[in-house]
Amino acid sequence: MPETTPKGLTRLAFGGDYNPEQWPESVWTEDVRLMREAGVTMVSVGIFSWALLEPAPGTYDFGWLDRVLDLLHDNGIRVDLGTPTVVPPVWFFRAHPEALPVTADGRRYEFGSRGAICHSNADYRAAAANITTRLAERYGDHPALAMWHVHNEYGVPVSACYCDSCAAHFRRWLARRYGTVDAVNEAWGTTFWGQRYGGFDDINPPRLTPTVGNPAQALDYKRFADATIRENFRAERDILHRLAPGVPVTTNFMTALSQCDSIDYWAWGREVDLVTNDHYLITDGRRTHVNLAMAADLTRSVAGGAPWLLLEHSTSGVNWQPRNPAKTPGQMARNSLAHVARGSEGAMFFQWRQSRRGAEKFHSAMLPHGGTDTRVWREVVGLGASLDALREIRATRTVADVAVLWDWHSWWAQNLEWRPSADHDARERADAFYEALYDRHLTVDFAHPEADLSAYPLVVVPALYLMTEAAGHNLTRYVEGGGTLLVSYFSGIVDEHDAVHEGACPGALRDVLGLTVEEFAPLLEGDTVRVTGPDGTGLAADVWTEFVVPRGAETVWTYADGPAAGYPAVTRHRLGEGTAWYVSTRLDTGGLDAVLARAAEDARVPARPGLPRDVEVVRRTGESGSYLFAINHTGTDAKVPLDTPGTELLTGETAAGRIEVPAGAVRVVRLDG
Ligand code: GAL
Repeated sequence: MPETTPKGLTRLAFGGDYNPEQWPESVWTEDVRLMREAGVTMVSVGIFSWALLEPAPGTYDFGWLDRVLDLLHDNGIRVDLGTPTVVPPVWFFRAHPEALPVTADGRRYEFGSRGAICHSNADYRAAAANITTRLAERYGDHPALAMWHVHNEYGVPVSACYCDSCAAHFRRWLARRYGTVDAVNEAWGTTFWGQRYGGFDDINPPRLTPTVGNPAQALDYKRFADATIRENFRAERDILHRLAPGVPVTTNFMTALSQCDSIDYWAWGREVDLVTNDHYLITDGRRTHVNLAMAADLTRSVAGGAPWLLLEHSTSGVNWQPRNPAKTPGQMARNSLAHVARGSEGAMFFQWRQSRRGAEKFHSAMLPHGGTDTRVWREVVGLGASLDALREIRATRTVADVAVLWDWHSWWAQNLEWRPSADHDARERADAFYEALYDRHLTVDFAHPEADLSAYPLVVVPALYLMTEAAGHNLTRYVEGGGTLLVSYFSGIVDEHDAVHEGACPGALRDVLGLTVEEFAPLLEGDTVRVTGPDGTGLAADVWTEFVVPRGAETVWTYADGPAAGYPAVTRHRLGEGTAWYVSTRLDTGGLDAVLARAAEDARVPARPGLPRDVEVVRRTGESGSYLFAINHTGTDAKVPLDTPGTELLTGETAAGRIEVPAGAVRVVRLDG
């Protein structure tokens, strides 16, 4: 069994991407001195350094990396060592220009940035295996080595290539998946628009077409692209396992749905020894700490609930958005510790020392251009001390209250063209339901629709357009067994081939919801409707309505106006020991909360009155104890009730009955007993 925690790391991970090759060696000694001052425990090294390690084909220069690793080891800093396969050197592309990826409209990318790789290319695969082998042979037993960091953020910036090698590889993938071309024809429904294929050789990637292409082909291409990238991860991982047994292998995920949409992290979570994630705040007007919590919960979920590690976030502003706000005082610590609360075994950054040159010189770092006499540096040192004080929480697990179903394949299918409404966005619904749960102070586990859900009193399905029959049965069993299900509209519509389930919609969910949907009735942009409850309560909604016909379900809210006036808007179905709720429209925040309150009541999910909005309270528990994290994202001091007394780990104070959390501060209480 491969190790699942960084080798030799006895504290929480704290550090960042360290790119000493950008600096003269004289700077390195200052780097490690300051790392020690800040309490850095681990750094990520060598991620972009293939051109330096192999300056010409078959010519290697490991001297500088030897010196870096030795220096770090001498100073007690563990190393997360990169395989530099995200940027092959220019000599490689001069010899193999066809290893540069091609877009769907047939244009080939050029060298000069990063991540421009065709993952089907055999020469790339051979060269990546070679440099990985060299690194593993040289550093596999280096005493500084804590773990391997394969590649960087697979899936971005290029999620799929459409070149001829990919076409050939796609055909092989299809042959393995379907066996015969007739099976492909059947699955893709190619009789539609006369797309029938006579042999595998007829099939291409979904390249530029004059109007919408075959949706099932497009969906399979997404699966193929993800699987192809995963093949390359596995190849490197297997070399590293063979040559450096006992050293965990990871690759940094980007689970935030706003940051990567091409990787099926459920599948990837099973491939890595330790799940690691990168997370950056997106400035889109939404509450960044809620998005952060969602990404952290999703990361923990793809790790199967096991501890994971935040491998990158930023000390302050990034530099790749149109506007990049600096973090406010205390925000970095709140961000870092929110990840820790939700299961991360530390907090790492991009990057250690702010670059002077290159594309990321305006991106914040642990050590800013201004050096140590800066706010960011002082906060970095403070965070290092906080993480040191929290070291006993290692290996404890975050406790979740409810589950939200999520599936990348469904998201991919939902995002294909020609749907009933361009305004319906699966991610938006996932965000909205997550936010409603966050505001009820409920901690969320994400789950795959076919996963065992029996541990959760409440399961929320925000928008799961694609659902296999197996998933439908899973949800029926869950409700029959006593669970409470809350489903949002346009869920359970198609199977894994984007074919509508037989019979009335929603095919996969008809039985469990006790209803059929006769017709979708999406609204025009800006139009709204009202729905009214039995007690006369009115809720507002937009984007989507439906003609719902109850077949066993009771109507709880009814459309008061709009195209579906008089039809059920929100229904409740008792089935076996449990209850299934259905929401057929896009309720606003208040409406969503009203329905959630009813479903939570059915599920007997704890209500948490007395916790102010934006005071985040999360628990981790394990052998070393039970810990309550309270993160105050507001500008007002807050009080958080405590069931049991305990000791606050950052201040050392004891607390009983409640803990005071000053405005913008974080408190972590080890609960007694
Ligand atoms: C990440 C990437 C890092 C750095 C960072 C900047 O996506 O892995 O190398 O570019 O973004 O925010």
